This record gives sequence, C-alpha cells and structure tokens, in this order.
Amino acid sequence: MTELILSLDVLDRKQAVSIAESCAPFIDAIKIGYPLVLSTGLSIVEELADLALPLIADFKVADIPNTNRLICEAIFSAGFDAVIAHGFVGADAARTCVEVAHRHSGAAYIVAEMSHPGATEFFHGGVGERLAELAVACRADGIIAPATRPERIARLREIVGSKAIYSPGVGAQGGDPDAVARLVDGIIVGRSIYEAEDPGAEAERLSRIRR
Ligand code: C5P
Repeated sequence: MTELILSLDVLDRKQAVSIAESCAPFIDAIKIGYPLVLSTGLSIVEELADLALPLIADFKVADIPNTNRLICEAIFSAGFDAVIAHGFVGADAARTCVEVAHRHSGAAYIVAEMSHPGATEFFHGGVGERLAELAVACRADGIIAPATRPERIARLREIVGSKAIYSPGVGAQGGDPDAVARLVDGIIVGRSIYEAEDPGAEAERLSRIRR
C-alpha cells in the first residue's frame, strides 16, 4: 500500500493544526519543514503529536558531521520521528544523520534527487545514482526521489532495492499520483491538499491511490 504523507507547508499555527486534524484519518505521516517551524517554533511538533502520526523533519540537513549531529539531536529531542538529509555533503555527514536517527529509534532519508525543474542542473549524469548508493552505504532508511520524473524513480529503485522511496512533486509540481504510486513507498503531497477547499476530502481522495 502506498503511503500518503502530508507536506504541511503553511505558516499559520491554527491553520496547520486544523488541516492536519482534518487529514489525519487519511494520511500516514506529516512532513514539516522550515516554513512551518520558522513561523511557529518547534512547539508545533508537540501540538501535532496528539494526532499520533509520524512527524518527518524536512530540514534537508546538509552540514559537516558535527553540525549535522547537533541538528539531528535537536530534531529528535523535539519529538520528530524522522529526518530528511542531503547526501551531497558526503557519506560521513549523511551517516551522522542516520546514526542519530537510529539512536533515537527514528528514521533518516537521503535526498537522491529534487523534484523541481532546476534540479536537473546539478542532479544529472549519474549524481542521483551516486546519492542513492550513498544512502544504501550509510544504512539510511530510504531516499527522496522526484514524482515529476517517474523514470528516475524506477532507475533509483534498482539501486535502493527494498529501502523506502518517498516522492514529492505530485499535483502542484505536475507529478501524476497514479503513475508514481506504484513505484514508491509513499507520495508526499503539499499544496494539492492544503490549498484545496476541503483538505480532508482531497487527502481522502489521494489516499485511495494504491499500487
Ligand atoms: O506543495 P508540494 O506538493 O509541491 O510540496 C512538496 C514538498 O516536498 C515541499 O515541502 C518541498 O520542499 C518538498 N520536496 C520537494 N522535492 C524534493 C524534496 C522535498 O518538493 N526533492
């Protein structure tokens, strides 16, 4: 079954909680990034914890190993269940995120490729493949791969095998959930849900997509 992860990129605390509550019965996790945390502070994590859904910190952590360690310790101490980190900083830095995550019984996912058009400026010529290999070598729990380029997901699947692939870019960025769902473990959806007139209904509709 393909999971549905809500990307909660709104700026208002009340709106965030209300959208999360209405979507909760239909989603498998909530991804929170800089927009929401910088607007509300980390206390939003405690507020959303009541929903008993895994909370993924999409901070795309990308620093030296020691700073990655400090960032990830703060993430898991705040109550997150998983972190998304970049791999281009090197295996030592990425591995630090994985180690901290696992020490907290959490998960770490490495960005193999971004989903926006400009991503191809740097993520080409085998870079995505190398990042997927790095994710496997670092014992990450999975990778992030673009719903906007399903053929790339299929290629990266050959490298990561049964590790999780979570895929953003569905809907607002043009990715087709039906085409992507059978290739991945979960689709990550933001604007299509939180900008919908009825976010809960849109989450329910998307949750019916199964591989
Ligand atoms: O609104 P939309 O569905 O496009 O949101 C996608 C979410 O996934 C955003 O939070 C974006 O930052 C994130 N993301 C992405 N592509 C990646 C990694 C993360 O779109 N490769």
